[in-house]
Amino acid sequence: RVVAVIMVGGPTKGTRFRPLSFNVPKPLFPLAGQPMVHHPISACRKIPNLARIYLIGFYEEREFALYVSSISNELKLPVRYLKEDKPHGSAGGLYNFKDLIMEEDPSHIFLLNCDVCCSFPLPQMLDAHKKHGGMGTILVVKVSPESASEFGELVADPVTHELLHYTERPETFVSDLINCGVYIFTPDIFTAIEGVSSQWKDRANLRRVSSFEAMVPDTRNHTANYVRLDQDILSPLAGKKQLYIHETLDFWEQIKTPGMSIRCSALYLSQFRHTAPHLLANGDGIKKAYISGDVYIHPSAKVNPSAKIGPGVSISANARIGAGARLINCIVLDDVEIKENAVVLHAIVGWKSSIGRWARVQGRGDYNAKLGVTILGESVAVEDEVVVINSIVLPNKTLNVGVQDEIIL
Ligand code: GDD
Repeated sequence: RVVAVIMVGGPTKGTRFRPLSFNVPKPLFPLAGQPMVHHPISACRKIPNLARIYLIGFYEEREFALYVSSISNELKLPVRYLKEDKPHGSAGGLYNFKDLIMEEDPSHIFLLNCDVCCSFPLPQMLDAHKKHGGMGTILVVKVSPESASEFGELVADPVTHELLHYTERPETFVSDLINCGVYIFTPDIFTAIEGVSSQWKDRANLRRVSSFEAMVPDTRNHTANYVRLDQDILSPLAGKKQLYIHETLDFWEQIKTPGMSIRCSALYLSQFRHTAPHLLANGDGIKKAYISGDVYIHPSAKVNPSAKIGPGVSISANARIGAGARLINCIVLDDVEIKENAVVLHAIVGWKSSIGRWARVQGRGDYNAKLGVTILGESVAVEDEVVVINSIVLPNKTLNVGVQDEIIL
């Protein structure tokens, strides 16, 4: 039996995702019309003998209740949200629910970060892990040497695939092979986490009784229950024949900012072409508007047939798109109104916002820059003919003059 655990974090994480995370927990923000966490969950369906999926986070339980019950019904597989009373770190959070997870008596445990976007090749990882042996296999990807330092960089044996060296966000370049935040472990992972946290407990006790404080410096602000998977577990276990890697050649991105959610939404839309074509506009042969490329339109949205939509566009429930409107690479959230001949490009249009006739809401499409896209928070009104470029607009604002490269508070 296999179980899958998805780490969803909590309200104090994901701060770079504001203002979108004011309304909805980041893991439930829609990418390609589906909550972010839905993509790893639906990838789990391909795992043989999967008994259960757990989401572990420190959001309030009620925030996930509706989603968890509807996805359990849909997949006919128990999905359960487990709430931590406080953050315990990516490994500590898992350890916190050890007894509950072990009740399933799993031979393997998948552990997934919820804020990564990839094809989640989970069955392939399981096969690779069985071949390698050891305690765990990490999904890795090659990125450009310039961007590698934002992630955990690692070195592996090219023949055996053993993880030889791991450094989290190193200051000097180590390798362009990075940690994707997708893992498979045997239950021995719990023993490893226990080992680290009892080591710290011992050190803390020693510090209390020792008069030579400086000999046992406490460089950590956290308690013994706070254990990070990367620094505290992967780094020390590298080169000990316990951890191996599996490289993906598919797409991979990390979703920390609203800009990246536009890019990841488009990536998932193009994946739907192969995995779920029925979710794409025109995938069912019904022409709703002039569609170009991969586009998701919620069935309740009303799109004027003369609007031109795509590529990379996702339109949520009850949105209304007027005649002659042009939408490219954007996320339009629930209850938005986009009026006639408006243009929306490289942008996110927040819940209940409205964009006037002949208005333009656009970004330059630099998804990693803070002001490389335009984000409208909830209930923002852009009046007719107003142009908004590379800006973040906080909720409930009305814009009647153009803005560029600004954060409107
Ligand atoms: N439940 C819970 N509790 N989840 C947590 C906690 C916690 O205390 N802390 C972090 N998480 C979740 C986050 O929501 C995220 O899904 C995942 O665990 C990892 O978060 P971080 O530990 O903050 O690391 P990161 O996302 O900045 O970087 C990690 O992932 C990268 C891939 O996206 C590192 O492992 C990098 O090496 C890796 O490249």
